[in-house]
Amino acid sequence: MAQSEKENRKIVSEAWVQERIQSGRALFGNATVSPDGVYETDQEKRLPQPPLFKAPVSDQLIDLPSDFSTLDIDGDFLGIINRRKSHRVYTDQAISLTALAYLLWCTQGVKSVRGKAYATLRTVPGGGARHPFECYMAIRKVEGLTSGLYHYLPMKHQLEYLGDYEEMEAMIGRTLQGQKWAEKASVVFYYSCVFYRAEWRYGIWTHPTVLIDSGHVTENLYLAATSIGLGGCAIAAVDGPDTNRVFSLDGEEETIFYAMPVGTVAEENQAEEEAFYAFVREQGL
Ligand SMILES: Cc1cc2nc3c(=O)[nH]c(=O)nc-3n(C[C@H](O)[C@H](O)[C@H](O)COP(=O)(O)O)c2cc1C
Repeated sequence: MAQSEKENRKIVSEAWVQERIQSGRALFGNATVSPDGVYETDQEKRLPQPPLFKAPVSDQLIDLPSDFSTLDIDGDFLGIINRRKSHRVYTDQAISLTALAYLLWCTQGVKSVRGKAYATLRTVPGGGARHPFECYMAIRKVEGLTSGLYHYLPMKHQLEYLGDYEEMEAMIGRTLQGQKWAEKASVVFYYSCVFYRAEWRYGIWTHPTVLIDSGHVTENLYLAATSIGLGGCAIAAVDGPDTNRVFSLDGEEETIFYAMPVGTVAEENQAEEEAFYAFVREQGL
């Protein structure tokens, strides 16, 4: 950055920083906070329950395979745990549709429905089985799929094709706040939260549990990817407003907040991955 640019920067006030820090810390206490008076959640008020999943908006639906026997799935659980790591360098190779279906199943798959439509039991745990997440994808290279934007429909284990996106690679780097290495992934999973799906039941206590739950999703994605020789990296540095625009989300009722690019791992490029940590060395950390 040029010296003149540096001098013209508007530095945020320390009060603003402290306010953000305090509101972030307060989130940790929210799960156990006691209401100051009578408080009923919308479920307790017997208000109608919101849908357990988002209905498709497109009529271009793609059935996903549920038979994963063609995949070479590593059954060595401890080996998978020990080999899991973040991968940021990918070959340009396509992954199979079955591999994509497997990753989606392992992260958001619906195993059964509780009651008539009270809750879904999935391959990941979730507070009160609310599962407020939706999974969107920027698919670059999956065999048999046109590249473009997609949405997972967990109830039917289908993909919904949302359309193509001009300059999708640039969009990936941009929405992940300049992390251009992600542009080479076969698929970037973007996770949104549909707040009211959880707020209906948990009201003021919702938000920390939702954040906790999102970790289960990406950890399963890490492990599932590792088990079939793929790799990825969880990303919190997501530009929410930009990504919401890409997937036509309002950012109020539903917002994208987490992402994970996945691809075929380029072990020979380990040196490139090491470059990611160059800043750590530079700073003498
Ligand atoms: C919530 C979360 C957010 C992360 N955000 C980023 C990110 O924006 N960019 C990135 O390169 N890595 C990101 N990572 C990956 C971490 O840097 C990585 O997990 C950590 O360095 C440990 O390395 P390992 O996963 O290989 O064990 C994130 C990981 C998590 C769990």
